[in-house]
Amino acid sequence: MPSPSDVADASSASASLRDRWLLWRDQTLASPVFQRWASGVPGLRWIARRRARAVFDLVAGFVYSQVLEACIRLRLFQLLADGPLSLTELAHRMSLAPPQTERLLLAAVSLRLVERRRCDRFGLGVLGAPLVGNAAVEAMVLHHGALYADLRDPVALLRGQSTQTALAAYWPYAGDLGPSDPSSAQTRQAAATYTSLMAASQPLVAHDVLDAYPMHQHRHLLDLGGGDGSFIALVAERHHHLNFTLLDLPDVAARARMNLAERGLQHRVQVVDGSFFTPPQLQGADLVTLVRVVHDHDDDAALAILRTARTALPVGGVLLLAEPMSETPGAEPMGDAYFGFYLLAMGQGRPRTVDTLKGMLCASGFAHVRLLPTRLRLQTQVLLATASPIPDSWE
Ligand SMILES: C[S@@+](CC[C@H](N)C(=O)[O-])C[C@H]1O[C@@H](n2cnc3c(N)ncnc32)[C@H](O)[C@@H]1O
Repeated sequence: MPSPSDVADASSASASLRDRWLLWRDQTLASPVFQRWASGVPGLRWIARRRARAVFDLVAGFVYSQVLEACIRLRLFQLLADGPLSLTELAHRMSLAPPQTERLLLAAVSLRLVERRRCDRFGLGVLGAPLVGNAAVEAMVLHHGALYADLRDPVALLRGQSTQTALAAYWPYAGDLGPSDPSSAQTRQAAATYTSLMAASQPLVAHDVLDAYPMHQHRHLLDLGGGDGSFIALVAERHHHLNFTLLDLPDVAARARMNLAERGLQHRVQVVDGSFFTPPQLQGADLVTLVRVVHDHDDDAALAILRTARTALPVGGVLLLAEPMSETPGAEPMGDAYFGFYLLAMGQGRPRTVDTLKGMLCASGFAHVRLLPTRLRLQTQVLLATASPIPDSWE
């Protein structure tokens, strides 16, 4: 039988073999001579083309995003929703000169947002069709002006040299204005703006959460950082027996009261003004939800939020934590590139891996943490955790 030191030697030998192979591979791929050779060899040509295209897409990604923004601002997808139109008709409806309309349409065709149709007309493309009336994507794209302004110098951002970011102003609870600062007209306006964005994008998340976890066995759901109640409203539609509590900062809670009353839900939802860092007594819930909340906060704050969730539950109660996560299989750039840099620009928080969140949940009085299968895994993954007895040291 091999000794532990034999096993260690073997694994370090295989690691160094792998390192040498990877070094050889990287040096080969970096060589212009190899690149020219590979692009001419029939078997390798398609790999070379695919890789070159992937690199170019990284180089040009910002421009593609701006083509999409132009389509959305000019309502191109809505215009094509009832069927194809000619260039002249589109130029007229978008108030653009025909040559510029053609330029936009050709760009949109290349990105599969739009398709050429018979008789010189243009119709929706396979990537444009799902965007018709898609308030979630529209709101996301339109608020990217602030993000892209902050990302203009990504190195300064990484070095902490960009102090006043546009996104910190967009999300005032993440900037210098702490949640306890007195509400000014400016923070009220900012709360209204970010809350509308969250409400518009909520369907992208809520249906995944609801499909992942049946809530029939619960009586009372507490949504911490629940925004304007859009998540609760979607849950209430599916689960008529549930009652709810929503906690959010006062400016946002005021919007939740209005929104929920408009939907006739005021009798089923108690809206509480407050902070999850200094929470009021929150009793009665057997299910707590944290939807797109924890990733907004640095580790100490995130642990404090998880403790608030734990304290609000009886032993055996359930927490659902839903948010975009780091290293999501098949959606890695969404978690680590998009949200990684988004939260960097915002000034706090980070996307976390499932394992990191599991560790934080266990350190906050939860057990039996597991990842629930969800359909898209793009905007969110869902972790389920069960409240275990509160340690004496918390009392
Ligand atoms: C990214 S939004 C998510 C909103 C909602 N859960 C959703 O998914 O649509 C984060 C929410 O946390 C709220 N929030 C931030 N700091 C808070 C605090 N200290 N106490 C309570 N809520 C807070 C914000 O006002 C906002 O509504």
